[in-house]
Amino acid sequence: MDFGGQYNQLIARRVRECNVYCEVHPYNVELDKLKEMNLKGIIFTGGPNSVYAEGSPLCGKEVFRLGVPVLGICYGSQLMAHLLGGKVSTAPVSEYGKTEVDVDNSQALFQGVSPKTICWMSHTDYIEKAPEGFAVTAHTPVCPVAGMECAKKGLYAVQFHPEVMHTQEGMKMLHNFVRDICGCKGDWKMDSFVEASIKAIREKVGSGKVLCALSGGVDSSVAAVLLAKAIGRQLTCVFVDHGLLRKNEGDEVEEVFGPDGAYDLNFVRVNAQERFYAKLAGVVDPEQKRKIIGEEFIRVFEEEAKKIGAVDYLVQGTIYPDVIESGLGKSAVIKSHHNVGGLPDCVDFKEIIEPLRLLFKDEVRKAGLELGIPEKLVFRQPFPGPGLGVRIVGEVTAEKVRIVQDADAIYREEIGRTGLDKGLGQYFAALTNMRSVGVMGDERTYDYAVALRAVETSDFMTAEAVHLPWEVLDAVTSRIVNEVKGVNRVLYDCTGKPPGTIEFE
Ligand code: XMP
Repeated sequence: MDFGGQYNQLIARRVRECNVYCEVHPYNVELDKLKEMNLKGIIFTGGPNSVYAEGSPLCGKEVFRLGVPVLGICYGSQLMAHLLGGKVSTAPVSEYGKTEVDVDNSQALFQGVSPKTICWMSHTDYIEKAPEGFAVTAHTPVCPVAGMECAKKGLYAVQFHPEVMHTQEGMKMLHNFVRDICGCKGDWKMDSFVEASIKAIREKVGSGKVLCALSGGVDSSVAAVLLAKAIGRQLTCVFVDHGLLRKNEGDEVEEVFGPDGAYDLNFVRVNAQERFYAKLAGVVDPEQKRKIIGEEFIRVFEEEAKKIGAVDYLVQGTIYPDVIESGLGKSAVIKSHHNVGGLPDCVDFKEIIEPLRLLFKDEVRKAGLELGIPEKLVFRQPFPGPGLGVRIVGEVTAEKVRIVQDADAIYREEIGRTGLDKGLGQYFAALTNMRSVGVMGDERTYDYAVALRAVETSDFMTAEAVHLPWEVLDAVTSRIVNEVKGVNRVLYDCTGKPPGTIEFE
């Protein structure tokens, strides 16, 4: 149950890593709904509020009487204490960061955990006194109740966050909870997710019509295949080729999803290259370029959707990190991100289906493999919605697109040849807006400089430039200047993020 904490989906993911299925529901989910779920256990997430403050998210005590174990985490632990007669107050000293916690490992939740273990704390309130009937199972010098339980009633609580990596034995604790305390067998796998989703989609959609904007990226592809397996020809996928895709990418998408592909769905490819180039002619401002591409995309999609007629559902390949990012709402706009999914206003439809909204990227990939999507597509690198539009600095023209496509294809080919692609974050060629003087044969040249970029990143919020072997850079450079007409110089981008961003615009 979600009380607003930033790690709520991470908890769900950790539970799934214990091979136990898990869903996140809002804290005020109806009791009847919970009763229908065939629950094995409940976890209360953390949250930014104080349980005693007005308007804080609370739930009724009935949750504790559903007959399944409950684990409260952080705010969730304080809520448990508060509802059951314990005392929660502002801690004299707040704890933040890695903290050594003394735990009683004779207790069920801490079985196998070291008596002194590093946990991630992040709280200003604390449980001053545990409710009647609860044993205190963990503490720190400043937190008298860092863990408590009432095994008889199946109630457990921890002040720290077992789900974050910094809690060194957190997985053991969650495993103890879901497997031993709740008694889950641990036989859930991604194929169960796929099966359950297919079933749920069929039930929801009935005989309705569904429309999906397919970009060829991992998320929209997995969403489309899931839908195709569930409802076949009731699904129409519209793939807009905006002329800003990587070399041959449009054809590759068509190969997989088109009439000769493996899936039984309606596939519409719109070759809208010329339209996009015309709109982008003369435009150099990065934000304006992004907006034009995003808007034109919607226009094209809308026109196609009109031809299909009213649909009942629109599919979006939203995944969990997109949900957090769009949910924050307060952060400064660095770039107006464009995702192919962002289309709800333009089509006449009843509801949106987002079958992947609870999954992290690697889980989406697992689901993709489970669905039999080619590895090449499943492990495709992230590619921005505005495509090469943000990898061509300055005005976009068909000629520049050709240059960057060819240079990028060579770069990827060479990286692939060395085997470096496995585990490399994101790498691509971009076209700078700089032309410089060179010499080729005995002739003067005045051509573009291509920039190569390769970054390592775990979350795409920060990134570091990769130290690519010189021989690889040398081979790529030599091939690009020889094979790509219009380029006489190749540069390597050594900038991290910050201060750079991963893409160029
Ligand atoms: P930046 O350039 O912001 O990129 O450091 C971070 C990650 O996001 C990708 N990116 C986008 N993805 N729509 C997307 O779907 C966009 O408009 C967009 N812009 C950047 C980028 O490729 C990198 O993985």
